[in-house]
Order: sequence, then structure tokens, then C-alpha cells
Amino acid sequence: MLLTNHEIKAQVRLKSRNFNVLVYGPIFSVQLGHLRTVVLNDLKLIKEAYKMPEFMGRPPQAVFERASDKKGIGFVSGPDVFEQRNFFVKCARQFCYNDRGHFESKIQDEISHVLSKIGENVNQPCKMEHFFSIPTINALWSFLVGERFEHSDPKIKHLVKCASDYLSMDGIAAKLGYFVTVAAKLFPDFTGLTKQLKGGFSVYGFIDQEWKKGCSSRVPGQPRNYKEAWMDKFETASTNSSFHPSRNYFPATLGDILLAAVETTAATIDWAVIYLAMNPEHQKKLQDELDSVVGNRDLLALDDRPQLPYMEAVIHEVLRISSLGAFGLLHYTTEDCQFQGFSIPDKTCIIGNLYAVHHDPEIWESPQVFRPERFLDESNALINTEKIVPFSTGKRYCIGESIARDELFLFIANIFYKFNLICTENKPDLNPCQGVTSPPKPYEVIFIRRQN
Ligand code: HEM
Repeated sequence: MLLTNHEIKAQVRLKSRNFNVLVYGPIFSVQLGHLRTVVLNDLKLIKEAYKMPEFMGRPPQAVFERASDKKGIGFVSGPDVFEQRNFFVKCARQFCYNDRGHFESKIQDEISHVLSKIGENVNQPCKMEHFFSIPTINALWSFLVGERFEHSDPKIKHLVKCASDYLSMDGIAAKLGYFVTVAAKLFPDFTGLTKQLKGGFSVYGFIDQEWKKGCSSRVPGQPRNYKEAWMDKFETASTNSSFHPSRNYFPATLGDILLAAVETTAATIDWAVIYLAMNPEHQKKLQDELDSVVGNRDLLALDDRPQLPYMEAVIHEVLRISSLGAFGLLHYTTEDCQFQGFSIPDKTCIIGNLYAVHHDPEIWESPQVFRPERFLDESNALINTEKIVPFSTGKRYCIGESIARDELFLFIANIFYKFNLICTENKPDLNPCQGVTSPPKPYEVIFIRRQN
């Protein structure tokens, strides 16, 4: 059987509405094209499964394997992944969080660019498509390679488009290509494989060029960013390490990081813009809170966060309702194992249905309604935050979570501090594009400058 994303997502809603057909419950198996698959619809089960070493693999998916040469972080299995993950986390600590002010100032620079671009387009319908992609990449890029892109640079615009093509899965033909590899091989154009691969090769090729550029001002042993730290590792790595020159891991690893970042943080900001524009009463409540803490400064800073519980609730609600990584990335068993009394064979694909967890009516009242208040108690303290897992959980959870959370806070708070947002007659479509992530379709809103 070939289920679409929407059909799998729908199971949780069917479960709760006393339907006596198609009730799959918290765990069920399904054949997705060539992939024997187990779907987990329940948070406790996902947390338990994703802790187990047997569930840590990624299924072989032709498009990703071909573009990244079976290397990198996101789409491969085995010990190399953990060597690369640990290194990224160590670098993020060193370059982003030991000197948080520096990293924050890079994000603030990008926000200033965004605010002035919005300022040039106030009081009229503003077309939003990949609007936040380059600014959110730039903040990250300064930590990764110590540079930024001009927003008008055609090279980075093309890269964003390629990343989007690579991760896209829109339409039946694309899903067919994703799960039925023979269909993709026989009809590469019809299933979208050609477009996806072209996008993937462009992204990894761009990073390869970035590596070959080297870094003339680098002082060995004194890295200033992720790339320079990589170069130090590269020069001393043992032959079995994924950092050894013969393994050539850099393009795939940094390409995966770029891909994971480009289609997530920016799209979550888009969803915040859409939901707050469509819900003016929540937007007003947020702005009242922002006004009360900002004082006579021009921009909100990360230090303001503890004083902004409603803002935190808004971010949690946007992450819950948009469920950008609806299924996270697919997991895959690397040996036979027992789970919850079931025998799960080696090479089984595991889908943690994060969307289901975030929309389960047994946990969330009216789950399709945008209501940040569900994350606050009467004393305005945050609650229920442990009931969502937008960055997944366990051994392969998202390594960009802290960076993403800082960017989400700073971008969303500052945009809504400076501008009121309203919808035009063409209301945004709440049905997302389908792919590895679920960004919104292009939409339009009107920005109106606030008097502050
Ligand atoms: C709102 C923003 C983001 C969301 C919602 C998000 C969500 C996720 C999810 C659900 C996964 C799958 C985890 C799993 O397989 O169990 C993931 C993986 C990953 N994310 Fe994120 N992510 C975001 C931003 C970022 C950023 C900014 C970066 C880079 C700095 C990043 C880097 C990665 C990487 C490299 C992986 C693959 C990890 C692995 O395969 O071991 N993510 N993310």
C-alpha cells in the first residue's frame, strides 16, 4: 500500500473520532513501496524507540545516497554519523555559545537587514517566498565558514532553490519516486528524481567549492569557525576517521547541515507570520508583552527571553501546529529487535509521527486551532512543553535545535515588535508543501509599521 503523508497523519484524528474503520492506534506497520515500515503515533513510544541503538539507522534512499555519495550526517547510518554529530555540537558550543554575544550580534545584523527590507514594502501586499531563507542561513554561515552572503547574490538565491527542490516531495509522482525506487529509475523526469538530484548535486557541489577555496587567513590550531576547526581535524585524523582526507566527508556533512537548516528555521518563521497575521488577537497580546519589556532599546535580545512567556508560548504553538518535520527524518533498524512485544526485523523503516503527537486530540483540545495559551498556566508559567518534540528526540535528535531556537526567538520577536501584520484577501493556504519538511506555499501579507 502507498499511503500519502496526509493519510498517515490522518490516522491520529481517525483514532479519536470513534471511527471503527482505519483505526491504526499508537503503533502499526505498513508497506511504503519497497520499505517495510513501522509507524509510531505516540510520544512515549517514539521516545523509547529513538533511545534504542537498533533504531538509529537511516533507510537507503536512492536520491539522497546518490547526491551525497553515502556520506554526511542526515541520511546515513553508522559510527561516522556520531563522529560528525559530536564534532558539530562541540563546535557550536565553542563558536556560538562560549561567546554568545558575538553569535547573537550576527543574528541581529541579519534581522536589521530583514527589518529594513520589510520597511521598504509596508502598506501593500508583500509576496513571501523564501523571504527568511538567506538571513537565517547567513547567521549560521558566519559560524560555519566565517562569511555571509549578500541578500541579492544570485548564487545563494539559486542554492536556496536547489535545496528546496532536493527536499521536495510534492505530488504523487514524487512520492512514488521516493518509495518505489524502480519507478524513480524508470521515470526520473516524471517522478521528479532528475530535479531532486540536480538540486542535491548543486548543494553538495557548492560546499565542495567552499572547501577548495581554503582559508588564507587561517592560523592552524586556532580555529575561528567550523570550517577551520575541520581543517585542523583533517590534518591530524587517523585513516579510519571520517575526517581523514581520503574519506572526503566535508561536502556531504556541511551540505546536510545547510539543507537541514535552510528549509526549517526560515519556514517556521513563515508559519509564525502566517498564524499571527491570521489571529490578530494573539498578535496584539504578543506585541503588548514585547512593548512591556523592550524599554528604550531598538531591538529585542536573547536576555529578554525569560521576561517573555507569551512569546515562548507562541514559538511552542507555531512549532506544534506547523510540525515542520512531520515525520522527522526516517529511522531504520540496523538489526532484528524486540519493541513493545513486537519483533521488528532488521532493515525496517521507522516513522516517528511527530505530527500525530502534536495534533492528538486526546492531548490537545482543538488541535487545529492556533492557541499559544495552551502552553501557559494561570500564573503565566510555561507548561506542556515536554509534550511536543519538534526537533525529535533520542540519539539522532536535531543538532541545530539551540541555534534554531535562538533564531526563531530573535526574528519573530523583532518583526512583531516593529510591524503589525495583516492578511490580504488572498489568505495564506494552511496546507503545506510536501517534502522532507512542510514549509508553507508562497503567500502574501501586509506589513504596517508600528509607532514605537
Ligand atoms: C525550526 C527549525 C528546525 C526544526 C523543526 C528541525 C527539526 C529536525 C528534525 C525533526 C530532525 C530529525 C531527527 C530524527 O531523525 O529523529 C532534524 C535533524 C537534523 N537537523 Fe534539524 N531542525 C531545525 C533546524 C536545524 C538547524 C538550524 C540545523 C543546523 C544547524 C539543523 C540540523 C539538523 C541535522 C544535521 C539533522 C540530522 C541529524 C542526524 O541525522 O543525526 N536543524 N531536525
